[in-house]
Amino acid sequence: MSKLAVDLAGVSKKYQDKVVVDGLSFTVAKGECFGLLGPNGAGKSTITRMVLGMAAPDAGKITVLGMPVPTRARLARAGVGVVPQFDNLDHEFTVRENLLVFGRYFGMSTYKIEAAIPALLEFARLESKADTRVSALSGGMKRRLTLARALINDPQLLVMDEPTTGLDPHARHLIWERLRLLLAQGKTIILTSHFMEEAERLCDRLCVLDGGRIIAEGRPHALIDEQIGCPVLEIYGGNPHELRALISPYSQRIEVSGETIFCYAPDPEQVHKQLRGRAGLRLLQRPPNLEDVFLRLTGRDMEK
Ligand SMILES: Nc1ncnc2c1ncn2[C@@H]1O[C@H](COP(=O)(O)OP(=O)(O)OP(=O)(O)O)[C@@H](O)[C@H]1O
Ligand SMILES: [Mg+2]
Repeated sequence: MSKLAVDLAGVSKKYQDKVVVDGLSFTVAKGECFGLLGPNGAGKSTITRMVLGMAAPDAGKITVLGMPVPTRARLARAGVGVVPQFDNLDHEFTVRENLLVFGRYFGMSTYKIEAAIPALLEFARLESKADTRVSALSGGMKRRLTLARALINDPQLLVMDEPTTGLDPHARHLIWERLRLLLAQGKTIILTSHFMEEAERLCDRLCVLDGGRIIAEGRPHALIDEQIGCPVLEIYGGNPHELRALISPYSQRIEVSGETIFCYAPDPEQVHKQLRGRAGLRLLQRPPNLEDVFLRLTGRDMEK
């Protein structure tokens, strides 16, 4: 048995004449949480759709749970749970009916689906909404239902495209906790996200994509060390251009984004010294994070 849940080798995809995924290769081991990060239009959803057999690659090879995709996608999909970027629930049906219909799609008996529903409602904290029509749910509740629905066939692999977009912070933390539980049970997760905190917390490995290519890949903390590797000072409330000249000799890199200066400082005390006594300045010193990596790789107004 292969240790890989997903294997992409040299996968490319064009829409009209535009290359959207460009010779992409990566593997996801069973039990791993793998993140696809990247700016809007980087190709994340296209990749997830190809993994699911919903879009065919123009070149390359995709294997999901040991099966070639798209040729045997239907078989592979029996072991996969899907959270699409945009909800495709049936709005005229209740929460329970949506779960029933979805379970039948996997060939499950009504008895088996009914038995699975209480735990799924608990997963999504929708116990009190079982008989509510989807059209009457809030956006976040619909998202939670989509997540619960993805688990109906007890999948080995979950493919989640921005699973927590639109959720409030409580709901997001709840979902993170639930996803960690699923990982602890040995499930494999591929997720795309714009929340760097989410990726940092959940992903064992991730790749940053731009223009359909991988521009960095690794464990979140290894990427942070490699790409940034020193404390970050955020400076607000002054003239960015004047301040930049002042602190530049003590910075590894400086970026200005709007009114904020991001100063990557191996010895932050030196920067503090330069700015001491200046009225109206606010300084925040913090460890580097994945957002710094993302912005560095995908381009925040680089000014040094
Ligand atoms: N069905 C389609 N027909 C034509 N172009 C498409 C199609 N689907 C995606 N694209 C194009 O492919 C590129 C990648 O789109 P994709 O949805 O994969 O990006 P993404 O990384 O998921 O972005 P986002 O963060 O906004 O969800 C975009 O330029 C998009 O316009
Ligand atoms: Mg997308």
